[in-house]
Formats: sequence, structure tokens, C-alpha cells
Amino acid sequence: MTAKEQIESLREELNRHNYNYYVLNSPTISDYEFDTKMRLLQDLEKANPDLFDPNSPTQRVGSDLTNTFVSVTHARPMLSLANTYSQAEVEDFYRRVAQGLQGEPFEICCELKFDGLSISLIYHEGRLVRAVTRGDGVQGDDVTANVRTIQSVPLVLMPGLNWPSDFEIRGEILLPWTSFERLNKEREAAEEPLFANPRNAASGTLKLQNSAEVARRGLDAYLYYLLCDDLPADGHYENLQLARKWGFKISESMRKCQTLEQVMEFINYWDVERKNLPVATDGVVLKVNSVSQQERLGYTAKVPRWAIAYKFKAEQALTRLASVSFQVGRQGTVTPVANFDAVQLSGTMVRRATLHNADFVEKLDLHIGDMVYVEKGGEIIPKITAVDTDSRDASLGEKVQMVTRCPECGTPLVREEGEAAWYCPNDTTCPPQVKGRIEHFVSRKAMNIDGLGGETIDLLYNARLIRDVADLYQLRAADICRLERMGQKSAANIVHGIEDSKKVPFERVLFAIGIRFVGETTAKMLARAFGSMDALSSATMEQLVQVDEIGEKIAASVIRFFGNEVNRMLVERLRAVGLQFEVQDKQQETGSDALKGKSIVISGVFKHHSRDEYKALIEQHGGINVSSISAKTSFVFAGENMGPAKLEKARQLGIPIVGETEFLQMIGEPIPQSGELLLLF
Ligand code: IVH
Repeated sequence: MTAKEQIESLREELNRHNYNYYVLNSPTISDYEFDTKMRLLQDLEKANPDLFDPNSPTQRVGSDLTNTFVSVTHARPMLSLANTYSQAEVEDFYRRVAQGLQGEPFEICCELKFDGLSISLIYHEGRLVRAVTRGDGVQGDDVTANVRTIQSVPLVLMPGLNWPSDFEIRGEILLPWTSFERLNKEREAAEEPLFANPRNAASGTLKLQNSAEVARRGLDAYLYYLLCDDLPADGHYENLQLARKWGFKISESMRKCQTLEQVMEFINYWDVERKNLPVATDGVVLKVNSVSQQERLGYTAKVPRWAIAYKFKAEQALTRLASVSFQVGRQGTVTPVANFDAVQLSGTMVRRATLHNADFVEKLDLHIGDMVYVEKGGEIIPKITAVDTDSRDASLGEKVQMVTRCPECGTPLVREEGEAAWYCPNDTTCPPQVKGRIEHFVSRKAMNIDGLGGETIDLLYNARLIRDVADLYQLRAADICRLERMGQKSAANIVHGIEDSKKVPFERVLFAIGIRFVGETTAKMLARAFGSMDALSSATMEQLVQVDEIGEKIAASVIRFFGNEVNRMLVERLRAVGLQFEVQDKQQETGSDALKGKSIVISGVFKHHSRDEYKALIEQHGGINVSSISAKTSFVFAGENMGPAKLEKARQLGIPIVGETEFLQMIGEPIPQSGELLLLF
């Protein structure tokens, strides 16, 4: 076999495995076999650069090159649908269709209305050539590089299935709930603004300029509309069933209905059942199934006459606003929070909702005692959507005003130009800010100081033992012992943990010191680019913005941080106690390729290193840390007390479990003591 033939056959085989895994949810080979084949293909492609193909399964990882989005005109405009919230209007639609077809029998294809963003995919000779956003319906952005990273979008169609040589298929790009929640958790930890719902998150993700980051976030795509000059079947439903065989992800929930009753049943079933879906939906779409009947019914100026969207109502409740409190966050942002009489929403009791910022409060013209509508839609956090002004009476309380001073320390609040949030600028002595910064500093992903939680920090702060993070390094076990409910052993543990933190690598020290907008990933990038605290603290705006993903906002924040005398002194004190202020190139010193290309899930508690140290070791030896077990996991690295659900999943998928000793052997690290069993399934 020539290299070309070998490459082609591997690509075809890996495409099929991707399809089995991501579209059909039923993998047929082990993760290990998949990886081996993928690595072989990578090697062959590297040795034969003339055979490069952007649609090769090796290209799904995305690249760090900056994407630019070219505007493209759609061959057929992307129309929207008529919307309704009323079942009576669905009946009207049904009757209009019956009338329009003059009594001819017809079927309605019922589908879920996915709440993401619409995409148009263009295929030529079975290969993805372009992916374009809806834009204004006439023109959209070419986002092909990012869409290529979505595993469920076929780059090359299944061979031998008679797909048309040119067609367009439309659908929705979504960020599944689990990925959305993980992303928001990361953003919360980095104090980056949260995405309000998966749709915003998907849209923000698709517009990222770095497709490697897009790949990491885990988008998915469901397709629901095939367009082509010569469609394979007259039925819309039938066309989509074929498209599934070609490689596309088509929702399993589609139904063809013969009567209005069946249509209503579908609507009522999914209004409840949609809560169990992995992705967000906001209604159902009803389409006349026959494409020739669709053509006869035609279009109004804006929307098809053959389809309608029925939207589910977000769960809403009416309650009385009792008070508004103002919360001061770790970075000083002051957020108004509404407290109201408890109401039941989507199965939980709700008493509070964020009011976002002063502008939002002003727009609502909110008064204490107002009856307000609280809603829990696609969003996780309940929100107040409106005030029932008609029910206002003489008992109405005063108008809600944003506070002008910090409720914690009394400092006048400030607001940056163009920003909605007011914040307390007193980051050196405002208690929640000081305590929050210390909490952040000791947290797992920062300095990882065991035994120091929010409560202990509160106690230490109130006892005036700490005022900033550098004070931690002056603590003595005898001081800590005197705190409430603190034994000698715990005190010793804390001191030990603080001492240990002096070994934490520079990138995490950089994350720990809490520069505004510098999250975990940004800290890594800055550490890699500048190499040391000294180089970073004297970097100019020009130097900073040259770093990948660092824009002017982050750059200005870094400059502001090091321009502040108090921060500079703090940094010097941290240097004096011996924290790592330079990148240690461990990769070169101790790293290997022992785990190259392996996806590893780490779980449980370990004896010889912390979990985060092991994660770093995995990276140093070429492995990849992944959070959940799938058929693509190379092995689970398990400590003690690994969760039974994880264990069961690994067993089901036949994923090997590797213990601590064996892992250390694999990467050639010394083993402090032996005596562990190696479990292999
Ligand atoms: S069909 C001409 N089917 O809803 C018909 N649209 O307002 C075009 N959507 O922009 C669309 N799920 O983004 C169709 N199963 C589904 C859908 C769906 C979600 C979105 C789509 C479109 C909007 C219609």
C-alpha cells in the first residue's frame, strides 16, 4: 500500500469511528485502538506534507492562529419562522395549511426548537467546504475553522451512500448544559463575566479567534434542514433520516404527525420532557413534511407558510419585593440583589435574584413593595423580568437606589467608563475584598494551601492575624492554635501547607496574586511569554498585547496592578519569603513523551502528590487531562476513594485503571514507598 492509500484508508476509518461515537453514541473500538490509529495517521501526514487535508480527522483540534471572519452571502437566504406562544394559533396554522392544500392529506413533521445559533454547512463532493453563521439572513460570517472542531459535524461524508454532490444543510450549534456549566465555573473562578445562557456561550465561542479554544469548549451541532436542487426524497423527515446515515447528527425526537391531536401531544410531551435533554430547547417547530407541498404553500414576505415555531413559556412567578441588598464581590464589584417573598420555580424555592447592576434597577424603576415577575428560563440564576406597575398602591415603598458608598467599608464607589458595574476601589482594606483575595490565593488552583478555607480565613482576619496574603507566611502554629475550634494538629497542618506552597510553580503564583482579569489560563500564557515576575512587571502595553489572547483590557489591568505601590510591596514580600517568581522549565529537565497523546482522567485521593501536582506531571509527560470518562479515555488514574459511578463507567467501557505506583513507574518518577496494588481490567 502506498502512503497515500494508507492515509486515505485511515482517514476513512477514523471518520467512521468518530461518527459512531459522536453521532450514534455507540463506539465500536477501544480508545486505545483509536488513539493508535490517530497517531499513525498523524505520523504519516507529517512525513507526507503534500497530502495535507483540512478535512482530515487529525485537524479537529483547531489551531492557535487568529481566525478572521469573512462575510459570505447565502446562496438561499436564511429565513426565520413565525413564532407563537399559543396553542390556539397552532390550530390556526394547521387549518391554514389544510385550506392551502385544498383538502389534500398532509403530514406535519414535529421537531424540537434548539436554542443555539443557526448555521449553514455547505458540502461539495462529500466534503465540508464552508460553514456560515446566519448573520442577517442574507449574509453571514465564514466560521469554517471553528466549526471543523465540532466532533459531530462530519468533515467527510460516509462513502458510497449517494449523497448529492452539492448540498446545503442547516442546523443549530449548541453548547450542551454540562459544557456550559463547566465553562461558567471556570469563568467564575477567573472573575470573568458569566454567560447568561448556553446560546450566548455558543455564540461567543463560535466567534472566538482561536479555534483550539473553541475545540476545548465542546460545542455540538444538530441539523434540521436539507437544501438541494435535487433532493433525494420528497419528505423532509425522510431526507433527514438519510442525512443521519451520511454522517450528520439528527435529533431522535422528530415525529411525523397525521392529526392535530398528535401535534398537540408532541408539544405537551416535550414541554415537560425537554428538561431532561442535554441541550437547551425553547419550543417546537412544526413543518409540513412534503417538500412539494411546502413549495405550493410558499412564503410570505418574511417567513415560510409551511412552518411555525411554538415557543415554550419560561416558568414565571409573581412575588413581592421585600428588600434590596448590595453584595461586595472579591474584586470589589457591588451587585444589587433582590430579596422577595419565597416562590416555587422549576421545582426549587427561590428567594433572591440578581438585579445585575444600577442600570438594570433604573430601567425597571423598581420600588420596595413592588410586585415583580421572577423567571427561570434557560438561565441558571433567576431573574426579575418586569414590574407589575398596575398593582402599585399607597403602601408602595421607596424607589430602589444604587448605593453610592461601599456597604462594607464606606468608600465612595466608582464606575469605569463604558462599564455597567460600580465597584469599591478600596482593594487594600475593604474586608470582603481582602478576605476574598486571601481565599483566592489559597484555593486549589492557586497556591493550594490545605486546611485554609473561608471560615478559617475569617477567623484569622478577625483575630487580626492576617491582613494580606504575605502575612500568611508569618503565621506560627501557636497563633493559629488560639483560634476557636482549632486543634494543634490542624494548626500544624496549615503551617505545613503554607510552607509547601513555596514550591508552587510561577504560573500559579501569578494566578494566585489576583490581578484583575488574569484567570488561570491567562496566567499560564503570561508566565510562558514573560518567564518571570520581573519581566512581567516591567512589560509595556505593546509587549503585553503581542501575547496570544491578551487584549488591551487585560494588558491595562496588568500594568495597573504593578503600577500600584501597595501591590509592588506585597509582591516583594512574597519574593522575600521564597515563592517561585520564575518559570522552571521542567518539561525540558524532567519531562518525557511517556504519556504522549494519552487522554487521562484523574480521580480520587493520592498519597505521594496532590491531584494538581499529578495533573502537572501528566502535562509534563505529554498527556492530556480530561474531566470525564469516555471511550476515548486512555486510562483512569485512580487514587483512593474513586467514585463508584466513575468506576462503573470505566468498567463498562473497558478503560484501564492505573494506580499511583504504576503511574509513577510509567513516567519514571521515584516511588517513595511501595505496597500498592495495580488494578487492570
Ligand atoms: S427550521 C425556514 N427547525 O429557530 C425554516 N429552525 O426562527 C428555517 N431553530 O433561525 C428554520 N430549531 O435557528 C428550524 N428544528 C428546527 C429549529 C430551528 C431551532 C431556529 C433556527 C431559526 C429559528 C427560527
